[in-house]
Amino acid sequence: MAQEGISFKHVRQYFMLKDRGKVQAVEALGGVSLEIKKTQFIALVGPSGCGKTTLLNIAAGLVTPQSGVALLNGKPPAAGRPDVAYMLARDAMLPWRTAIGNVEYGLELRGEGRAARRERARELLNAVGLGRYENAYRSELSHGMRQRVALARTFALKSEILLMDEPYGALDIHLKIQLGELLLQLWDKDRRTIMFVTHDLHEAISLADRVIVMCPNPGRVIADVEVPLERPRSLSELQTDNRYHELYSRIWSLMSHEYKH
Ligand SMILES: Nc1ncnc2c1ncn2[C@@H]1O[C@H](COP(=O)(O)OP(=O)(O)OP(=O)(O)O)[C@@H](O)[C@H]1O
Ligand SMILES: [Mg+2]
Repeated sequence: MAQEGISFKHVRQYFMLKDRGKVQAVEALGGVSLEIKKTQFIALVGPSGCGKTTLLNIAAGLVTPQSGVALLNGKPPAAGRPDVAYMLARDAMLPWRTAIGNVEYGLELRGEGRAARRERARELLNAVGLGRYENAYRSELSHGMRQRVALARTFALKSEILLMDEPYGALDIHLKIQLGELLLQLWDKDRRTIMFVTHDLHEAISLADRVIVMCPNPGRVIADVEVPLERPRSLSELQTDNRYHELYSRIWSLMSHEYKH
């Protein structure tokens, strides 16, 4: 049987960078190995340029690594695989479609029939609390509502693997918590394997089963920390939970120690 989940083995990725006439190699990923079990939720954190997006792009089949092996549910990455969904940074709504039209969009691309995709989209819009807004356009929705539409669109796809690149990067703390809660509710009902990239260590700990810390030059994994907080989790309650803050301090000191060298 093909191995389920996501596996990276010794993945290396260089980019050639031109600087004042000279060409230099940037080691975006210097031999990354990582195993993610099926239905596990992992968060990838680390400073800008440590290769988080590159690793997701490799998983999505958008970038082919120079060496090493990546496998998703036992198969090599390929763009457009129906079992893999990629939610990009600050995912935007298509302005010429209504909210429900946006949620249906991915299903339509995958050839789902009209009635089935409408029903699925409606179910997801209800789940993110936007049932009343199905006919609203982008300009009629707040920033947070648009992000909820994007979340509904991602979950409407039955893809087993979700790759999420800083989906809530630009939002304020309250909205981040609200959307994080929604994401966990959807995931609790319908477990997927998730790789969630964020700059925000608080967000990483509150959402994930495991926090993977990366470091640049070359991009590599420097820590892999289990999050032993029980589920279902209430993100607003976690804000005052000592165990959450202790984990934060532990991972933070690991990170700051490594970044000094
Ligand atoms: N297409 C590309 N061409 C050249 N260099 C690239 C390319 N993509 C990424 N890089 C380089 O690879 C390194 C890792 O980039 P990547 O985007 O993966 O980092 P990141 O961890 O996602 O950063 P951020 O947190 O800022 O999004 C950087 O040094 C970047 O300049
Ligand atoms: Mg990035």
